[in-house]
Amino acid sequence: MSQITPEPAPRAGAPREAESVPAVGLPQEADVSQATGASPASSTSVPTADFAPVAPEYPPSRNLLEGKRVVITAAAGSGIGNAVARRCVEEGADVVISDIHRQRLAAAGEELAAIRDSKVVGVLCDVTSERDVQKLVDVAETEMGRIDVMINNAGLGGTANLTEMTDEQWFKVVDITLTGTMRCTRAALRHMMPRRSGVIVNNSSVLGWRAQAGQCHYAAAKAGVMALTRCAAMEAAEAGVRVNCVAPSLAMHPFLAKVTTEELLAELTDKEAFGRPAEVWEVANVMVFLASDLSSYMTGEVVSVSSQRA
Ligand SMILES: NC(=O)c1ccc[n+]([C@@H]2O[C@H](COP(=O)([O-])OP(=O)(O)OC[C@H]3O[C@@H](n4cnc5c(N)ncnc54)[C@H](O)[C@@H]3O)[C@@H](O)[C@H]2O)c1
Repeated sequence: MSQITPEPAPRAGAPREAESVPAVGLPQEADVSQATGASPASSTSVPTADFAPVAPEYPPSRNLLEGKRVVITAAAGSGIGNAVARRCVEEGADVVISDIHRQRLAAAGEELAAIRDSKVVGVLCDVTSERDVQKLVDVAETEMGRIDVMINNAGLGGTANLTEMTDEQWFKVVDITLTGTMRCTRAALRHMMPRRSGVIVNNSSVLGWRAQAGQCHYAAAKAGVMALTRCAAMEAAEAGVRVNCVAPSLAMHPFLAKVTTEELLAELTDKEAFGRPAEVWEVANVMVFLASDLSSYMTGEVVSVSSQRA
């Protein structure tokens, strides 16, 4: 990895390390993604006794992002952010990865740099800090010359019924999940629109559409990410900049497995038509499609990455 930029001075009251901020993708958010108990398929596609809910082979690179320069937030965890960073490198992009966790960021950078000869830069960035987000864009511009793709992955889950929810709980989830995505989208648009080129891919959730007790803050924030995506896309279209988002349901990764009971995961998985959660790279693949020229006639779209029936 080329560099990890020095950590800026913490803002008053702002969390500076991942340990002080719950990681994104907490099980409760996946919980919300399971809204209906609808039968998963018609009679022609109902899984049979020998239906095996296994993930397909990891697809080979198709160089979809050859020559692109990509920035990804929250890319040092075990989930979608890191998976999409990996896929971007495999598809030929140079990447700036960012996260709030310094050690994991350094490790992720080394792993990505070993994949191929892409440029990989790490930048500490808490998306709740406007200063950090601006620094992220500035470093990306300095190190890579321009940003072709901004992938706004950071989001925070949690569970609290509204009658018990504190303002702090509400604001924390909304600040990272919605306001953080707004900050990163805004900074990317300010960079991309004068250049009349660029793509933004946000990470929402099926919970932006579906109801679940205990998820008022997270679901509202993710619905906000969908609305932000649509409106920003209208403003950016005339400048040739596209803005889309994915809405995953349940994408399994080690952290999620660690903080979620087996019972809950089994319950959630049962509701997936494929009979299994998504692999994080299956969500990443859709994000790469949205980042690539293959999706040139898509903007303001919310793409569900879910095997569920609504
Ligand atoms: N995994 C799922 O099942 C699922 C389902 C629907 C939506 N999502 C969304 O996908 C995104 C990724 O979630 P994931 O579970 O795959 O985890 P992930 O590994 O992609 O993200 C976790 C990382 O986020 C970092 N992070 C936490 N707070 C941050 C902040 N303020 N600024 C910058 N980085 C921060 C953590 O340090 C950690 O490395 C989130 O927006 C989440 O809401 C996930």
